[in-house]
Amino acid sequence: MNKKYRKVIIAGNWKMNMLPSQVRPFLDELRAGIPAATHGCSVVLCVPATHLAALSREKSRRIAMGAQNISHFDKGAHTGEISADMIADLGARYCIVGHSERRADNGDTDEIVNAKLRILLEKGITPILCVGESLEQRDRDLTIEFISYQVKAALYGLTPDQVKKVVIAYEPIWAIGTGRTATDEQAQEVCFAIRELLRREYGALISRKVCILYGGSMNAKNCAGLLAQPDIDGGLIGGASLKPADFAVIVREGSRE
Ligand code: PGA
Repeated sequence: MNKKYRKVIIAGNWKMNMLPSQVRPFLDELRAGIPAATHGCSVVLCVPATHLAALSREKSRRIAMGAQNISHFDKGAHTGEISADMIADLGARYCIVGHSERRADNGDTDEIVNAKLRILLEKGITPILCVGESLEQRDRDLTIEFISYQVKAALYGLTPDQVKKVVIAYEPIWAIGTGRTATDEQAQEVCFAIRELLRREYGALISRKVCILYGGSMNAKNCAGLLAQPDIDGGLIGGASLKPADFAVIVREGSRE
């Protein structure tokens, strides 16, 4: 964390879990476990689209609302899709884009990820752009090369001013939901490489401002070491964000002054 230049973001990714009726009891427990002032740390919950209304009714000052996906179309004849305007109307301030599960299961290509980023930025919603290598890519020493490619493809054509508003989450695929976390050093190495890439492409001022998160089996036990790294500005947390007590520990760590 480097709170001098950037805020910290602790974002939960509920994926396809929990029910809308569970939002309220979850928040009650979470609120009881986190500090009244979160000192430069934004807490975000990215819930399924069906849970957004329940979360927006809670009007939490300390917990911002996030979605997990939007359509890459603006509006119109796209049965089953949900637009950026729709989630914005409910009060969503963040939205995950390019999660590896969507890239693998739903055909989100680099072009689609780029289109979604553009729409979100136009609508004033902060994108949380996910990038991450497979185990095979890591074993073949292709991690930095592949991550650089993914970041460049996703940010293609954005202005430096837009890039500044994107949150990037480094999520090695082999660490997601597996209980196998990247070591502090492995995570820092890639997050640093992303910042270096941003510096080369957009300049030092922009690269210093972009929040870079780590995601992949981050939990109450390992969060302190990861968040202590200079280029890791928070976490995108799946499994551990479903347990209010565990998620609260991570928020408390991110809220340290
Ligand atoms: P995990 O998921 O914390 O359960 O590994 C992280 C993510 O996929 O965002």
